[in-house]
Amino acid sequence: MRTDTGQVIRLADYRPADFVLERTDLTFELDPRSTKVEARLIFHRRAGVAADVPLVLDGDELTLSGLMLDQTDIDAGRYTATPDRLEIRDLPEDGPFEITVTTYIDPESNTQLMGLYRTNGVYCTQCEAEGFRRITYFPDRPDVLSPFTITIIADKETNPLLLSNGNFLGGGNYDEGRHFAAWFDPHPKPSYLFALVAGDLGVVEDTFTTASGNEVALKIYVEHGKEPRAAYAMDALKRSMAWDEERFGREYDLNIFQIVAVSDFNMGAMENKGLNVFNDKYVLADPETATDADYANIEAIIAHEYFHNWTGNRITCRDWFQLCLKEGLTVYRDHEFSADQRSRAVKRIAEVRHLKAEQFAEDAGPLAHPVRPETYREINNFYTTTVYEKGSEVTRMIATLLGEDGFRKGMDLYFDRHDGDAATVEDFVACFEDSSGRDLSQFKLWYSQAGTPLVTVSTAYDAVSQTFTLSLEQIIPATPGQSAKQPMHIPLKFTLLGENGGDIPPAAVSGGEVTGDVLHLTGRSQSFTFSGVPARPVLSLNRGFSAPINLSFDQSPADLAHIARHDSDLFARWQALSDLGLPVLVKAAKDVPEGRPVTVDGALVSALIETLADDRLEPAFRAQALSLASESDIAREIGGNNDPDAIHAGRDAVLKTIADKGFATFERLYRELAPKGEFTPDAASAGRRALRNVALTYLSHAGDSASLAAEAFAKADNMTELAHALTVLIHRFPDTDAALNALAAFATRFDSNPLALDKWFSIQATVPGETALERVEALMKDPRFNAQNPNRVRALIGTFAFANPTGFNRPDGKGYALLADQILAIDPKNPQLAARLLTAMRSWRALEPVRAEAAKTALGRITGARQLSADVADIVERMLK
Ligand code: ARG
Ligand code: ZN
Repeated sequence: MRTDTGQVIRLADYRPADFVLERTDLTFELDPRSTKVEARLIFHRRAGVAADVPLVLDGDELTLSGLMLDQTDIDAGRYTATPDRLEIRDLPEDGPFEITVTTYIDPESNTQLMGLYRTNGVYCTQCEAEGFRRITYFPDRPDVLSPFTITIIADKETNPLLLSNGNFLGGGNYDEGRHFAAWFDPHPKPSYLFALVAGDLGVVEDTFTTASGNEVALKIYVEHGKEPRAAYAMDALKRSMAWDEERFGREYDLNIFQIVAVSDFNMGAMENKGLNVFNDKYVLADPETATDADYANIEAIIAHEYFHNWTGNRITCRDWFQLCLKEGLTVYRDHEFSADQRSRAVKRIAEVRHLKAEQFAEDAGPLAHPVRPETYREINNFYTTTVYEKGSEVTRMIATLLGEDGFRKGMDLYFDRHDGDAATVEDFVACFEDSSGRDLSQFKLWYSQAGTPLVTVSTAYDAVSQTFTLSLEQIIPATPGQSAKQPMHIPLKFTLLGENGGDIPPAAVSGGEVTGDVLHLTGRSQSFTFSGVPARPVLSLNRGFSAPINLSFDQSPADLAHIARHDSDLFARWQALSDLGLPVLVKAAKDVPEGRPVTVDGALVSALIETLADDRLEPAFRAQALSLASESDIAREIGGNNDPDAIHAGRDAVLKTIADKGFATFERLYRELAPKGEFTPDAASAGRRALRNVALTYLSHAGDSASLAAEAFAKADNMTELAHALTVLIHRFPDTDAALNALAAFATRFDSNPLALDKWFSIQATVPGETALERVEALMKDPRFNAQNPNRVRALIGTFAFANPTGFNRPDGKGYALLADQILAIDPKNPQLAARLLTAMRSWRALEPVRAEAAKTALGRITGARQLSADVADIVERMLK
């Protein structure tokens, strides 16, 4: 474990590498405990670098076993080697030279899952961000690019498959039952995109012919026997390849594209050039074991990693501060892909729910940081929802400012100008400025200022002059290290709705820039006046969530209901329903502990039930509309002194009121939406299942028996309905025979399917209330629990901490103590996993004092531990600051 050094890396300190790497040639002799790595690296000194400047290579837990310059051993006096650094002195002043480095590494005992490791007998690598330096000494930074030649030698029987990046060069038998394979990747790349996989896996094959007629071999490798479950991933891959040609004019550039699914993986997936490595959770699916959410995630992540081939690989990042350059942009691209493949409005609603739940929470707490941070201690801690999801929203705003064609022009210029480069955010934005002529200097504050802007809105209508005035004020809250902020350029899509629900086109606007349906808020406060407005309009603002902001707008329930009924933007209709519901849920959370009856606003109930019953609306939309704000959404809205039990009880009471009032409609839909015919994972069918599941949830709140859910469990022919029925049984009727029988039946049926068993763990980890803790403790002792497998740890411990507000936040602090114990146990083996789990406590300061104190004690125990990884030390210290 790399323990904390306390060292801070700064964007302002960037300088280019002293040596240019021309070629990388690696030979691996694979052995589970002692793999030999020979790296032959051709360098030359960058022009202007003094002759006495040494070559410094990065390492991490390495031991040097051989070092040559131009095929001759180097004298011991000319270099210094430590586990994390190799310095070589007296190198040629000009002209290329070759350094050969030999190291031996131990893949079997690599529990960090960074560098080269072994999972279920398969060798695989994860190098982003700084894992390559665990394989060999190397200039392990994203702005050092070179073509790679890879030779892999391994036992033939146990490793029939030898894979790396690029195109296959050839292979054959070697000595002592071993064989070899050689790969060449002609596209210069940084080390973080290197990959190697070796082992014995099954394969699904297909081909794709690019727009210019090149045939690409497509291969997805999975454990033997799981091949049929890779069919959907293959389909998603082909659709992604076609979409990137169509939408962005980007073609694939090698003759083979490979994906490998592994079961022990720290993250979702990795875009290594031509050889993506995936967490098998995002590859494997069939109706019996995958939910509709799983299918949607597979489609999105397959697309995401594929799209990185252009945004990330062909154009990479100059340094890790620029991470959003590839991640934010690529998330935007995968969001657009999914929107085109599915229902755009429903996709947008799901994105915004996720953004608010995760990114807004991060931005409001101690871990808040800009989309492009300016300092870091451990880069692994910056693969965050701010870099990814807010980064995507910033890209979306550029598209909103420039329009679809303008955005495409800027992207074309970016691909043209920077292909082969390690680029920066400035380079990216300059392409949009140069192609459109628009000044984006104020807009760029979105990259450097953290915190979710709060826009306060007030409106006035004057019937005599027929003018409508809209006054806006923006405040960007203080975040760690940033107290004073500049006003930002906030693009707000809007419309003025008339009494009959149609749009009122205003005659003229003054007070600021309005382009089409986009209002540009640029000042700290600004008033827009619309003239020629014949009657008081209803303002629908921030349509499509054009800017990732909080709005403070006292819009009347009647106006919100009007938008919910009439806006032509479905997203805005959902947003209005959600704005109607949130204050009701907040009030309920306050009424319950005071013993006051929970009352639910009539306008809300009728708008919801009207939406529910409206068969012209797609079921997936209705499912979203009826899914009330989550408990953590309500907590965020309350903003401080939060009592998770009161929030939960209040929300339950609201659900019950809606369930009682809408009972007949829920029953009708539950019956009508019963599956007919064979399962298909398409969005429309998934929407019907989603709405049926929502109906079951409400019905379970209206009735007090487990029988309907038990019947749903017994009849379900797909995982979406099966897992939901089990959730309703275990969460609503925990100790009934029906629930216990279903739980046992599920475990037996999926005994040999780890991904389905993960769901079994998660469903139990989210049982509301105090008892969850004992359940989680018991499940940790279950023989099926596996503390070495990140997916299983996240399914049980992660789900408990992130997704069970009442259970995790027990007032006695035992939930926090359990998490702290787990973090301290996991950290020495897998720091990245430990650090990620710890972020579940990022909102601790918003809790009521008793819980906050208990949380602080648990965090204090973590900081006080004798040895912490850089990952955990960085997170815990920021959380306590
Ligand atoms: N680049 C990968 C992606 O597609 C994720 C890599 C995550 N790496 C890390 N150290 N957390 O998003
Ligand atoms: Zn990515």
